[in-house]
Amino acid sequence: MSNRYAVIGNPVSHSQSPFIHSEFARATNQDIAYEKLFAEVGKFNEVVSEFVRAGGLGLNVTLPFKGDAYKFAHEVTERARAAEAVNTLTFRDGKVFGDNTDGVGLVRDIVDNLDFPIAGHHVLILGAGGAVRGVLEPILEQKPASVTIANRTLIKAESIAHHFKPWGEVGACGYEQLKGRTFDIIINGTSTSLNNELPPLPEGVFTARTLAYDMVYSKGLTPFLKRAQAENAGMLADGLGMLVEQAAESFHIWRGVQPDTRKVTNMLREVLA
Ligand code: ATR
Repeated sequence: MSNRYAVIGNPVSHSQSPFIHSEFARATNQDIAYEKLFAEVGKFNEVVSEFVRAGGLGLNVTLPFKGDAYKFAHEVTERARAAEAVNTLTFRDGKVFGDNTDGVGLVRDIVDNLDFPIAGHHVLILGAGGAVRGVLEPILEQKPASVTIANRTLIKAESIAHHFKPWGEVGACGYEQLKGRTFDIIINGTSTSLNNELPPLPEGVFTARTLAYDMVYSKGLTPFLKRAQAENAGMLADGLGMLVEQAAESFHIWRGVQPDTRKVTNMLREVLA
């Protein structure tokens, strides 16, 4: 029988994870079965326990359960502890191991795929929700020259900056305070692109050398990337590469092999087109 894995979420029907992991498994000759697992809010532990009883070996965890998964794990990695969120669960020898591969996925997409170093660069991150918490530790590990978090609700940005003190210096501000400043990398970690909205960025933060990165992906340019393009930002990227890279890291945790990501990202891009 194939080794069983799944992605758990609510909703989960839209997830590309089964496609991505099946392609990884095919390319690396791994015998796995990967399904979608729906759980009612409040029923996470029950559904996961049943999956484990049935022989499940690992889960990817998506919204809104990354906090539940963090609490469910017996042991978590440093980056999951920093994020207080888990997106990868591994069940082994009666124990539950939690990791968070979102940040390393983002970093690999920027540094390896886009060939844009984070080290020594000034990074601006928009938003202060779970998406941003999930990626900050691996970004700080790259030793950027500075990291600034801008958020509509300032106190949330300040609270994240404070939380991440053990891992590195993070500045916090409101959007107004970005006037007159420029950055090498601007990452949109808000949910605005999902609602066809834009964060209230003042003009002039993008330069001809800036990488504008939206953690959301879409068929055409997201509203944030359109804005960056209109301001002649040097490079534009959406979060499709991050999605595939975070999956590759989960696959590596479970199977011990590092799958090639570029082909799968290209395949997904075609499906979106
Ligand atoms: P997630 O877990 O996906 O990060 P979240 O915790 O709800 O979701 O966070 C959403 C983020 O998008 C927040 O930083 C939110 O800003 P506030 O903290 O001020 O609410 C940000 N956001 C959503 N809509 C926005 C908008 N129209 N303009 C600016 N920021 C927005």
